[in-house]
Amino acid sequence: MPRTTPLPSPAPLGPGDLGDLHRTVLDWYAVCARDLPWREAGCSPWGVLVSEVMLQQTPVARVLPRWQEWLERWPTPAALAAEPPGEAVRAWDRLGYPRRALRLHAAATAITAEHGGEVPEDHDVLLALPGIGAYTAAAVAAFAFRRRHAVVDTNVRRVQARAVTGAAEPAPALTAAETRLAVALLPEDPETAARWSVGVMELGALVCTARAPRCPACPLLDRCAWVVAGRPAHTGPARRAQRWAGTDRQVRGRLLAVLRATDGPVEAADLDAAWPGDAVQRARCLDGLVADGLVEPLPDGTFALPRS
Ligand code: ADE
Repeated sequence: MPRTTPLPSPAPLGPGDLGDLHRTVLDWYAVCARDLPWREAGCSPWGVLVSEVMLQQTPVARVLPRWQEWLERWPTPAALAAEPPGEAVRAWDRLGYPRRALRLHAAATAITAEHGGEVPEDHDVLLALPGIGAYTAAAVAAFAFRRRHAVVDTNVRRVQARAVTGAAEPAPALTAAETRLAVALLPEDPETAARWSVGVMELGALVCTARAPRCPACPLLDRCAWVVAGRPAHTGPARRAQRWAGTDRQVRGRLLAVLRATDGPVEAADLDAAWPGDAVQRARCLDGLVADGLVEPLPDGTFALPRS
């Protein structure tokens, strides 16, 4: 039967509601947050920076061991900058999207050369570092230096979309409206703002998940705009499932794994053996790795991780 009464819609958030929203998320975070080393008060700004770059496209469980090894080996930006970029690529292991290792090395080099080895506190100075984008600059300014910046990752965008906007999913890519909403929701006090940002992030990671949200466990259940609207289905373009087998990403991973496994250069034949099936795809991927600066072709025809 067609619905004759309009769906209830949540009232727009007023200043009092915002305070209540903040308290609800902050109280939930205080009880339910995971103990993660980069969230500890004693974590260095460098540790926070490394964590934020690693976490951008990789789940916490896979990041944890690599982050710990990385910080033991390179406790400061200067320690990483003193080694060739190939060592960062090697230590990246199989976290995926290995250009992030080069970006961290480039940032460490600039921090060492231009900032006395100290991670800058200011958002705009962070943003000016090589390899540091808007998300990472905001996350480091907020989480390492407790400055007041909206930190908008995919989890935050999903919580905002559901709890405030009433949509099942956020837009396919970050919109200006989402950033404006994140800024509007940010608590005034900088320390509270930092905890709010990580609290919303954690809510998105643990409860308001993409595929199977655990609404009964959500502290925002009774005021979630999406729940109030009857959890309407997503109407935008379908999320593309990320295929892995046979993709160029897989081939690039195989080629890099050969280079990581040995200290010296490798012969082209060793790379051929890593993906014997499709020579055209293999050559395309190797060219891509060289173009990205992840692999260095040497004059004698061998290949190495980047040395400078
Ligand atoms: N804590 C702080 N930043 C985080 C992130 N990007 N992902 C998960 N937990 C975090």
